[in-house]
Amino acid sequence: MNNDIEKVLFTKEDIEAATDRLAKQLTKDYRDKNPLIVCVLTGAVLFTVDMIEKMDIMAQLDFIDVSTYFGGTESTGNLKLIHDLNKDVRGRNVLIMEDIVDSGHTLKFLIDLLKERGAKSIKTASMMDKPEGREYDVSVDYYGVRVPNEFLVGYGLDYKGYYRNLPYIGVLKPSVYQED
Ligand code: IMP
Ligand code: MG
Repeated sequence: MNNDIEKVLFTKEDIEAATDRLAKQLTKDYRDKNPLIVCVLTGAVLFTVDMIEKMDIMAQLDFIDVSTYFGGTESTGNLKLIHDLNKDVRGRNVLIMEDIVDSGHTLKFLIDLLKERGAKSIKTASMMDKPEGREYDVSVDYYGVRVPNEFLVGYGLDYKGYYRNLPYIGVLKPSVYQED
């Protein structure tokens, strides 16, 4: 798996430093707000687990799955709600946790959905922010690191479902996806 990586952009230590910093900030901002943390499957699982472990507050956790990428390196632009929340968001302070915000399409879809369902507040935390990819007007309230406009894998990000379990964030060798 490691042989397929061209370069490492953020090491395990970089990721830890970013999640430490974010968790401290969120602990401060969400104290007494009893947030509902919405983890966007599947990519945000690693980030969410790290964050909730480090956040010293009362919070609940739920999962939602929206897909824009169907296995390749480019978004199709189509969105599908694959798995819905179990909890009611009405009146809740919702904190969406994402792995990466690229075009912003997924985030925009989620924010609109949760607004419509009556959430009291909606904020977003994303491990990675890829601002050059942005096509939709959404704000990432909390981000771990800014990343360049390249196709990345690791720490939750996948290529065809693989590489999510890399403990660092890296760029895949072009030969890996040119072979397919
Ligand atoms: P957006 O809707 O364009 O903002 O894309 C959001 C989703 O696309 C993320 O949650 C990821 O699952 C996926 N994605 C965006 N950029 C990358 C990347 O560089 N590598 C792997 N997945 C990505
Ligand atoms: Mg995602």
